[in-house]
Amino acid sequence: MTTTIREAVRGVAALLSENDIEGAAREARLIVAHALDVEPGRLTLIEHDAMTSDVEAAIHAMVAKRAERVPMSHVLGYREFWGRQFFVSGDVLDPRPETETLIAAALEESFSDVLDLGTGSGAIAVTLVADCEGARGTATDLSDAALTVAARNARTHAVQTRLQFQRSDWFTAVEGVFDLIVSNPPYITALEMDGLQPEVRLHEPRMALTDEADGLSAYRAIFAGARKHLSPGGRIIVEFGQGQCPDVEAIAQANGWRDTAFRTDMSEKNRVLVAKDPV
Ligand SMILES: C[S@@+](CC[C@H](N)C(=O)[O-])C[C@H]1O[C@@H](n2cnc3c(N)ncnc32)[C@H](O)[C@@H]1O
Repeated sequence: MTTTIREAVRGVAALLSENDIEGAAREARLIVAHALDVEPGRLTLIEHDAMTSDVEAAIHAMVAKRAERVPMSHVLGYREFWGRQFFVSGDVLDPRPETETLIAAALEESFSDVLDLGTGSGAIAVTLVADCEGARGTATDLSDAALTVAARNARTHAVQTRLQFQRSDWFTAVEGVFDLIVSNPPYITALEMDGLQPEVRLHEPRMALTDEADGLSAYRAIFAGARKHLSPGGRIIVEFGQGQCPDVEAIAQANGWRDTAFRTDMSEKNRVLVAKDPV
């Protein structure tokens, strides 16, 4: 007997639920739609169609991975961020919706040269250069594998000629001056690592998550080094974790950044600090 698309979605949702996956019904639709190569919104229109054995095999492989708590972005091969699809693998952080707060803050004013420190998948750098006409950028990371993924995403979104990539330990290999510096650095403390969800702890690069210390090392390096690389009147915008707002502001101010403001995420929590050069 053949299985219909509707039955397949239900079966996948049940399997994911049995494996304690939150949002199993939504993920089931994404998996089946991906295997069929259709938009998830079209599934209802074709729900009585029969599945082919190829599609069933593709679904089976994806469900097996997801049941092992491989993140959905790795199962599907992409993550939607600020309206674009980014290729994501185990070499980079899965771009988070909270990081769109940083994008919104950065796009409040125009810029011509942006530096993204710790670019990972390139989600921030690619988005900013793509959405600010004529802007150029430099995207850095300490991980060569991450830079390869970021360069692939830059090509996908046709900004490769306006974005250059540089392996660097924060500012050490960076040259030049920028009117916008952005970063979403690793901010989880070493002590918090064991408590993370398996999708994060087992499938995302450890160096993308933690500084192996108090979660604030990157902010110390970034605010100490930024002045030399920021043009007069420029801005520096960083994302931070819940509860880190006072510490990150104190680090900025200790390094002479007095004009600071915050932006909140979807949960109304302070998530991003914007520091302006007072000149
Ligand atoms: C939280 S992830 C952010 C990735 C991406 N910007 C995003 O928002 O999705 C932090 C990134 O910083 C990089 N990183 C860690 N230590 C670094 C260092 N010392 N210098 C430069 N980049 C570093 C990691 O490899 C990782 O790609």
